[in-house]
Amino acid sequence: MTAVEQSLPAQNQPPKTIYLKDYQVPDYLIRTTDLRVEIYEGETIVSAMLDLYRNPAATSTATQLKLQGADLELVSIALDGKILAEGDYQFGEESLTIFNTPAEFKLLTITKIKPEANTSLEGLYRSRTMYCTQCEAEGFRKITYYLDRPDVMSEFTTTVVADKKFPVLLSNGNLIDQGELENNRHYATWHDPFKKPAYLFALVAGDLAHIEDSFTTCSGRDVCLKIFVEPKDLDKCEHAMTSLKNSMRWDEDVYGREYDLNIFMIVAVDDFNMGAMENKGLNIFNTSCVLAKPETTTDAGFQRVEGVVAHEYFHNWSGNRVTCRDWFQLSLKEGFTVYRDSEFSADMGSPTVKRVEDVTLLRTLQFAEDAGPMAHPIRPESYIEISNFYTMTVYEKGAEIIRMLATLLGKENFRKGTDLYFERHDGQAVTTEDFVAALADASGRDLTQFKRWYSQAGTPRLDIAEHYDEAAQEYSLTIKQSCPPTPECQQKLPFHIPIAMGLLGSAGDLPLNLKGTAPDFETGDNTHKVLELTQAEQTFVFERVQEKPVPSLLRGFSAPVKMHFNYSRADLVLLMSRDSDGFNRWEASQQLGLQAIAAAMKQFQQGGDLSGWAVDADLIAAYRSVLQDQSLDQAMVAYMLSLPSEAYLSELADEVDVEAIHYSRLAVRKALARELRDEFARIYTAYDHQQTYAATADAIAARSLKNVALAYLMLLNDEQFIHACENQYRTSNNMTDVMAALTQLVNSEAQMGQTIAQQALADFYARWQHESLVVNQWLTVQASCVLPNTLDKVKALQNHAGYDGKNPNKIRALIASFCNSNAINFHANQGAGYAFLADQIIQLNKQNPQIASRLLTPLTKWKKYNSTRQQLMRAQLERIMAEPELSKDVFEVVSKSLR
Ligand code: TRP
Ligand code: ZN
Repeated sequence: MTAVEQSLPAQNQPPKTIYLKDYQVPDYLIRTTDLRVEIYEGETIVSAMLDLYRNPAATSTATQLKLQGADLELVSIALDGKILAEGDYQFGEESLTIFNTPAEFKLLTITKIKPEANTSLEGLYRSRTMYCTQCEAEGFRKITYYLDRPDVMSEFTTTVVADKKFPVLLSNGNLIDQGELENNRHYATWHDPFKKPAYLFALVAGDLAHIEDSFTTCSGRDVCLKIFVEPKDLDKCEHAMTSLKNSMRWDEDVYGREYDLNIFMIVAVDDFNMGAMENKGLNIFNTSCVLAKPETTTDAGFQRVEGVVAHEYFHNWSGNRVTCRDWFQLSLKEGFTVYRDSEFSADMGSPTVKRVEDVTLLRTLQFAEDAGPMAHPIRPESYIEISNFYTMTVYEKGAEIIRMLATLLGKENFRKGTDLYFERHDGQAVTTEDFVAALADASGRDLTQFKRWYSQAGTPRLDIAEHYDEAAQEYSLTIKQSCPPTPECQQKLPFHIPIAMGLLGSAGDLPLNLKGTAPDFETGDNTHKVLELTQAEQTFVFERVQEKPVPSLLRGFSAPVKMHFNYSRADLVLLMSRDSDGFNRWEASQQLGLQAIAAAMKQFQQGGDLSGWAVDADLIAAYRSVLQDQSLDQAMVAYMLSLPSEAYLSELADEVDVEAIHYSRLAVRKALARELRDEFARIYTAYDHQQTYAATADAIAARSLKNVALAYLMLLNDEQFIHACENQYRTSNNMTDVMAALTQLVNSEAQMGQTIAQQALADFYARWQHESLVVNQWLTVQASCVLPNTLDKVKALQNHAGYDGKNPNKIRALIASFCNSNAINFHANQGAGYAFLADQIIQLNKQNPQIASRLLTPLTKWKKYNSTRQQLMRAQLERIMAEPELSKDVFEVVSKSLR
């Protein structure tokens, strides 16, 4: 018996694996769905009338109907008006099978559910003062018996009934009726004219306030826009509304997509497993992704609201009008929609900054996932629990795949392709194959090889070598690609990889005369090209190259790969100061930072002392020139001066040396702070701290550079700067600057800094205790403190009034921040952090399996650490595995991590 089998209760089978290759069309379809949801305190009665008919395309001839259902109490069931008796149907695991079903019939079920007891936050549940739903991916089955799969699309009419103390009753589509009932109750009936799968169903009942606006579409229709929140949050909706209107205009302008209902609603909910959900006409949002005002929300928070509002809005076409055939196709809607929202955010602000942020996320979290035990292609082949596949890979790598398609096709053909996709598949549930086919058909390009990106997991590696033949004036690049094995795939076939590039000479970009191709004056000045790598090894030869150039490779990060090219420090300094590609200027700064940290790590690992560690003068000079470069966006300066994160350094390492990474990076930062003290002080002092807040790209950039300067200055443990920091904390008019100052104080190694930090933390809580989202930031800043004893503080905070172990945002703010963003403490004290995390997971396993499973990530990476840590981490995974009644969510991640 394996460890996996042993741990399962004897009567239970191991949860079963679902395979893409087993997909079958549904036997029945549902023409219309009529719901009546009667909410009473303590229980809710759901009546569902389904108009069913045999699917003409069904392959099986069975005359029975298997519906999904979970945690439901069946009150009654009637087929064409006739109450069914015991032998007419049978309960299975999460299912109800009805025998002898005719080709067409009406099924009426009445079920009882208990939203107040639903802590999984899937299905219908109560969050604070309101009732709300979350149905993706398979939550609708917790509301009623149904064909809960995305290829069954039905026309929904929903009546919500509740006490009048819940004055707002919402569902998808248009309001068609409302009225009063006996016993202080009332109802509202909503009709959604668009067929949709059950995962897009939503319902809300609560005492909500709202702001209202309108949008005139490109064809002149007026759409009413409403954002519903708890009354206390009404002053934090404006930014989401502006973002929504910008998104609606952008989708018309860039993709030709017009909104299709007369009303679009957003509801903010405090207890929510993810960021937000694109339910048709009734998006439901985590409060953290809608609410924003300068006093309570950081710049990052503002940008997140803009991005998530856009993301959910864009799903109306990429996800709802055209949806997924099955959950293996998740990236069809998510990858595409992330690509769309990232281009939107780029257009609203700075494209280079947005690209740097997205690539940073991808290269830390997604690359790590792709190299770990849960690695999967963007279209997985199998899963145990689909909730585990809402991943960095499906979302972020999925978006990169779409970006590559856009690069390969070019702007015009890509748009033709998406137009064809939306036209061809409107109202359908389709596959990623269908998406690629539309792009291929519209552009005439053969994308057969490209499709390997959908089925092969792992991050490809490029090894690039150059050769310059001075006599022949030829410069060649030889590119080899490889891809490491992943759990389900050992041998990979070569990918089709677009490599955007240019060549830098002493006076700037050189013209590109690629052997065998015409110069490109159509899309530019022939200094920029996209090489298409399709073979395992391929050489590209450039002619008439009069000097040995420095290649600028993978511009804009044109493919999600790890590129290796042997740049000298001088090459990197040149790229950093002179490349015409802003992204690659930043990338060169990161490579330089990596080299500097690597040198310190070597010293640390040999037992050397890092106090007073110095970095080379030419590096300092390079950073100094960035600080003086007037051509650069201030946000880019801020990012170029920020060293690669510990997470990125860990991802690059074969074996993660937690202490070496932490202390070496810190030593290099301190060295930069000493050397560039005057420049940082000048930036800090020149900044006008009294200016009124604006969430514009320029203002955000200026704040971020000023706060990077502050962070460096605070490493000097100099009273003058500690006072400045305290002053910033006390007098700032916006949360960005308050949090930046508080973070530096909390992490200050100076006694004086610590004393002020403790006062500031107390003051902060007293001031903001009634703003839950602000308290979350307060929890995070403490959980992320890199000084010793943070774990004890985290444990103490679990008992603080500002914490709530049932609220996902609080769990993320305290527990996930500590385990994911505080390596030096999480990995300290002989596995105390690992045991702590396992305790949390065991407790959450029953309460909220989705959150429990997501929290597991840091433990799944055990193979990356030394053998002592490996054993300690494994021991905790095994301890979780031995728990009785593991949820499918946790079982899948733990068992795959232990294999
Ligand atoms: N489809 C949503 C999005 O990306 C995310 C989502 C999937 C979700 N499952 C969820 C949100 C469960 C909340 C809970 O836009
Ligand atoms: Zn999405």
